[in-house]
Amino acid sequence: MADHLRKYEALFTLTPQRMRMIVEAFKEALELGLEKPSQVVPMIPTFVFGWPTGKETGDYIAVDLGGTNLRVCLVTLQGDGKFEITQSKYRLTEEQKQDDGQKLFDFCAECLRTFIDTNSSEPDGVLTPGEILPLGFTFSYPCTQERIDHGVLIRWTKGFGSPNTEGRDVAAMFNESIEKYQLPVKLTALINDTTGTLIASHYVNPRTKIACIFGTGCNAAYMEHVRDSDKIKSMGITDDVDMAINCEWGAFDSFVHEHLPRTKYDIIVDESSNKPAEQSFEKLISGRYLGEILRLVICELVDEGVLFLGQNTYKIEKPYVIDTAFLSLMESDPTDELLMIIGIFNHFFALETTLAERQFFRALAKLIGRRAARLSACGIAAIVSKMGYLDEGCSVGADGSLYNKYPGFADRIHEGLQDIFGEKGRNIVTHHAEDGSGVGSAIIAAMTKIRKEAVSSTQHTRAGLFRRLPISA
Ligand code: BGC
Repeated sequence: MADHLRKYEALFTLTPQRMRMIVEAFKEALELGLEKPSQVVPMIPTFVFGWPTGKETGDYIAVDLGGTNLRVCLVTLQGDGKFEITQSKYRLTEEQKQDDGQKLFDFCAECLRTFIDTNSSEPDGVLTPGEILPLGFTFSYPCTQERIDHGVLIRWTKGFGSPNTEGRDVAAMFNESIEKYQLPVKLTALINDTTGTLIASHYVNPRTKIACIFGTGCNAAYMEHVRDSDKIKSMGITDDVDMAINCEWGAFDSFVHEHLPRTKYDIIVDESSNKPAEQSFEKLISGRYLGEILRLVICELVDEGVLFLGQNTYKIEKPYVIDTAFLSLMESDPTDELLMIIGIFNHFFALETTLAERQFFRALAKLIGRRAARLSACGIAAIVSKMGYLDEGCSVGADGSLYNKYPGFADRIHEGLQDIFGEKGRNIVTHHAEDGSGVGSAIIAAMTKIRKEAVSSTQHTRAGLFRRLPISA
């Protein structure tokens, strides 16, 4: 197995030099996205202006349509960076992800109805009958926004494919479902999970300047000076404010495939996906794909007669049967015999393994997981270098199953940052973020309410000041 491993090491290892080249190309892609509309990395203006003060208060509903679950939360912001949260999770089926878009939003509204009914009927329930609550809708797919309560879906990602949704305003679609189910809420803000994470993490840790999600999908957000983006300035927004940008960096190097080190396994993952050529960066990193990359390598060795000779391999030949969680388990198996790996192959794929094979699988998982973390470091480094955060240092709020559950993922990102920046790379530290899709969404709904009230009172009192406030409130 050692010879085979050497081959895969060469394929999946990223040298510091290669990483630096990726960072440069990444930085250019970020800059281009800020300059012009409709670029590969779209750098989406989010209409979230500046940081929260920490004084935001009140009750908010948050609905979070992520890659795997639907979550409904009631968030009470108590000010001073404190909050309380009550939530329910509903699993999304694979069929729902392909079902008509309006039906998907109807399902969100139905779950919200159940949540509201349950929470208002409890004696100590926080919801008061008759009250209309502001709602933050976390919709974690690329959407072009013209205002904060609007967003046209550019494309589905993470395996979703619901027809009649791409190219449409998903806030309007969700509003239709809200009306249909007569829900006592007002959709105040449509946000991306990364933007929510950025704001929630800054609410409790003001050193946070960047937020990342490493889960089923991957992406980042950060705060940009409007004066530095021709694209945002041309939208008629004053240039003395800051606005959060949803980078949608999962799309880096899509279509052209010039910069990322794609192996033939990555190309198969891409070409057999429901969105070939898209989300190229994400397909090398996120939890949705890592298990499949490992499976493809294993299948190649089965075909070459190297693995499982004489055993029936049909179970492992089915696409996506290796969950990324298996890679985490393989890497963290503490036993000399690698009993966890014996269990996985036996239980899920009815396959017997030798110790040498198990050691090989573990080493392979490590190569794929490490490459994902080092590429993630490249994305972070591109934002850090573009914004000039290196000397002063900053915190990066990170969330998602890969970041939270994959052993060593954070350490490998940090190691990658040092490979890119040398000693100074230590100034950039990732930490487990606050719940962006729940708490972050509530804070943004609160910030939006405050901003709109400020705009309307300014409009009433001193029309002249209006230009000083961001328009399109
Ligand atoms: C989506 C992003 C999202 C990320 C993490 C990507 O597939 O395009 O909008 O932030 O997944 O959930």
